[in-house]
Order: sequence, then structure tokens, then C-alpha cells
Amino acid sequence: MSEMKCPPENIVLIGFMGCGKSTIGRALQQRLGYELVDMDQVIEERAGKPITAIFEEDGEPAFRDMESALLKELATASGGRRIISTGGGVVVRPENRESLRNLGYVVWLDAPASVIVERTGKTRSRPLLHAANPEDRIRTLMDERRPFYQETAHLKLDTKGLDSNEVTTGILECARYFFTSGL
Ligand code: S3P
Repeated sequence: MSEMKCPPENIVLIGFMGCGKSTIGRALQQRLGYELVDMDQVIEERAGKPITAIFEEDGEPAFRDMESALLKELATASGGRRIISTGGGVVVRPENRESLRNLGYVVWLDAPASVIVERTGKTRSRPLLHAANPEDRIRTLMDERRPFYQETAHLKLDTKGLDSNEVTTGILECARYFFTSGL
């Protein structure tokens, strides 16, 4: 287990809203002791307002610009050994998909739409789900984005029925294999 605890590069978490990126990011941070960069949180801190307000006042393209700029910064930051938790829509821009692949080991946390519907129904913090029928919106967006997650990820992990400890262990096992096999 000791080797496995130290992947040499960043671990990047991608996936749809409510798939558990923030939770697993924190669990990985605890296991590895690496810095955790929660992109949504950094963007909110920089903008001085929550994401819902950024979408309402500045529009989605402004939010996407902030996301792309932060990714570029992370790509040029030295060192690696960070856990980077992304927002669910980061894969929509092609240049972001490339940046993500170059950042480190990219893990796609996936879950069925029914699970996402249940998890995201509890909060109003996601402006894209402020729709007349959030479930339809989720299914449509998931269908649109699935190929982008697929294209970007080194590993796809279906989290349904797994607790955060199991997901974290799975990621670390696979990351160790990835980095030691020189793929
Ligand atoms: C978004 C997902 C959100 C946040 C923003 C847009 C998306 O992050 O970045 O509301 O386009 O899917 P989470 O995936 O952490 O909810």
C-alpha cells in the first residue's frame, strides 16, 4: 500500500454534477496528503460570489472562461501531486479536454441518471438544473456530455453502490498501475 499512496502526478476528477467529485476529492486528499484544488470553490472565491450568482449576473460563458483560465494556470503550475476536482461541465470545451489529459491521471466518476437525480435534488446550488423538469435536463446533459467524459478519462469508475473508501481505494490502485506501467 505504501507505493500506492504516492502517485507522482495530479489526479483529476471529472464527471457529472452529483457524481461525488468533491467528496472523493476530500477523501483522496486525506489519504494522500496532497493539496486539493476544488475548481468550483476557487472560481467562487475569485469571483467573490457563488456560482449561481456568476451564472445569473455574468452568464454561463463568463463562468466557462474562468474555468478554462484556471485549468491553464493549473497546467503551468509546477509540481503535480494535487487532487483536482472539476465542475461537471468542464469537458464541454475541447481545449479543456486537452488540458485535463495533460494535467495528470483523469478519473471519470460515473453514476446512473437516477442516482444523480436523487443526489442533486437536495440543493439549489446548480444553476443548470434550475429547470422546469430537472430530471429531463439531467438526462439530456448527461447524454450530451458522456462522449466528452469518455474521451477525456484514463479511468471510468461507476460509483453506484460503492462508499467513498471503496472508490478512493479503486482510484489509487488504478493510478499506481497507470504510473508504474508507463502508459
Ligand atoms: C456545472 C457543474 C457544477 C458547476 C456549475 C456548472 C455543469 O459543478 O461547475 O454549476 O455544467 O455541469 P459540480 O459538477 O461540482 O456540481
